[in-house]
Amino acid sequence: MTQALVLLCSPRKNGVSDSAAQLFAQGLGECGMSVQVLALRDYAVTACKGCGVCTPHPHQCMLADTDDAETLFTALATAKLLLIASPIYFYHLPAHFKALIDRSQRFWMQQQACGTEMSKYWQGQEAWHTGHTRPALAILTAGRSCGTQLFKGALLSLNYFLASLGATLYETRQLRGLETVEDLTARPAVTAGLYAWGKDWASLCRACPPC
Ligand SMILES: Cc1cc2nc3c(=O)[nH]c(=O)nc-3n(C[C@H](O)[C@H](O)[C@H](O)COP(=O)(O)O)c2cc1C
Repeated sequence: MTQALVLLCSPRKNGVSDSAAQLFAQGLGECGMSVQVLALRDYAVTACKGCGVCTPHPHQCMLADTDDAETLFTALATAKLLLIASPIYFYHLPAHFKALIDRSQRFWMQQQACGTEMSKYWQGQEAWHTGHTRPALAILTAGRSCGTQLFKGALLSLNYFLASLGATLYETRQLRGLETVEDLTARPAVTAGLYAWGKDWASLCRACPPC
């Protein structure tokens, strides 16, 4: 089983959020944690059509066999630790990532139908850390250096998306003023902090193995 899944959600390869996530992944790897890095941009995800099939049949999605969303959901389901890395686009998450989030509606409907936080889909997966949900982390990068609402929309969606996947957002790094990778590398305290964060989480995962 993959111990940690790093999901790169920027359309831009090797951009700011990719680079920040790689530092975190290096920290995890340094401490012996196995890491799978997936770039969402390499996977086809069709936008939810709002067909309503998942309302009466929460396990079903009419698009399930037509694209790569199920592959991504399986990867998200089986990792013990999740890291989501994404830029902020118009105060929210990029469209491709939002498409995946919308496709998780069937898990959301499943939770509503079951009346429990953990949907049937995730039963059988190892509950970790709290015994109920798996830990998720997020690195969000933005160009603007100010603005109290800058990360608000993205965080709201992430919280509900992760909840539908049986995971909880434990910690975030909300990084501002980063238009280019050079903006990031010009901040050695930030880059060192991301690497150290990865090492810290590898230690935490070692200390708290699956229940
Ligand atoms: C389409 C688009 C929309 C953006 N919207 C915002 C925004 O609303 N607020 C902001 O601070 N930065 C915004 N940015 C800047 C990016 O969030 C920022 O440069 C980010 O660090 C890029 O990360 P990446 O290289 O991983 O894609 C936007 C960039 C693009 C291309």
